[in-house]
Amino acid sequence: MNNEFIESHIHDIPDFPKEGIIFKDISPLLASAKARSITTELLVRDFRGQTIDVVVGIESRGFLFGMLLADALNAKFVMLRKPGKLPGAIISQEYELEYGTDTLELQENAISPGDCVLIHDDVLATGGTAIAAAQIIQKAGGKVEGFNFVIELDFINGREKIKDYKIASVLHY
Ligand code: PRP
Ligand code: MG
Repeated sequence: MNNEFIESHIHDIPDFPKEGIIFKDISPLLASAKARSITTELLVRDFRGQTIDVVVGIESRGFLFGMLLADALNAKFVMLRKPGKLPGAIISQEYELEYGTDTLELQENAISPGDCVLIHDDVLATGGTAIAAAQIIQKAGGKVEGFNFVIELDFINGREKIKDYKIASVLHY
């Protein structure tokens, strides 16, 4: 069951970015210190007591709570970025979008072989971004310990793509 206080900080925006889509706007959640802190605690809950060396946040909305999570778990924070943003040697992974493809990039030395990694993003929709994130972490030699999301869109069933991993989401729609 969704936490009502947190849910009240997610606003439904109809017909954004396209007609027929109801966008889940997390801006009110980001604006409230209390809601941020409860959300962080809910995100951390399922991974506390597990070894997490690195929290990986996916650009751009995965950076927001990703950093707070890394603080709470006393872990390293690493960015997975859209192409052309990271300097130095990089590892890339292409993934499918609704129309076309996109790429995620990681700095080659950001993950040490054997690192236990928690991947964080704001929303799980089709799961395309999430599975690409897992693939890139594995290419780097990291061990994916699981995923967490602020919002999981159950009706799209992106969970199916990452079903081999532990998945924890604060809100389900
Ligand atoms: C959104 C969202 C997730 C992803 C989920 O990011 O923040 O990262 O889509 O979709 P999927 O499960 O179907 O892959 P978006 O690419 O819109 O960019 P942003 O985070 O930079 O806003
Ligand atoms: Mg995103």
